[in-house]
Amino acid sequence: MSEGNAVKHETSPVTEVVDRTEWAQMMTDDEYYPFLVKKDLRPAIWRWQDVAERFDAVLKDPLRNADRRFISLVHGDTGEAGGVFPSIFLGIQGLNPGEHIVAHRHNSYALYHILQGEGYSVLNGKRFDWKRGDTFACPPMAFHEHINTGTEVAIQYVIQDMPARAMERNLIWEEPVGNVFHMVEGNRPQDL
Ligand SMILES: [Fe+2]
Repeated sequence: MSEGNAVKHETSPVTEVVDRTEWAQMMTDDEYYPFLVKKDLRPAIWRWQDVAERFDAVLKDPLRNADRRFISLVHGDTGEAGGVFPSIFLGIQGLNPGEHIVAHRHNSYALYHILQGEGYSVLNGKRFDWKRGDTFACPPMAFHEHINTGTEVAIQYVIQDMPARAMERNLIWEEPVGNVFHMVEGNRPQDL
């Protein structure tokens, strides 16, 4: 296209013309490699006896809207990442008999292993029945909901890459369906 035919577009409104940002820093190798050395991670163990105590209390809570019954296992050496390791989330999800955890989605993947109970999950419109010992994978941005069809509490062991996404400031959630938000300060629904 010749210059004379170029389509002109207005920019979005500009509130500031930026020359320098003081947080754009630089380091030499001598400075950078020591900076990269992080605190070591100590081996850790979570006893089921301790988890069960918190889990049982959460199972008795009234379920709030799209809320879930989750105990997240957090390793204290992971700092701001807040994972079981710096890039991995591990949680124990419970569903009381007959309970339905309504649909939501996020750009972290989720891997579910059934420790107890039976039910089904709907992942992007496809139903997957599950019972103790089964494992299923929910890919990033797939809508997912869970239903306990059994007579005992269903327990799901859930692994996600949520801390990695959060550390990159790239964790996106949609919950409830139609309400998309970016999980950074100021952008969550409760912040707006
Ligand atoms: Fe989820």
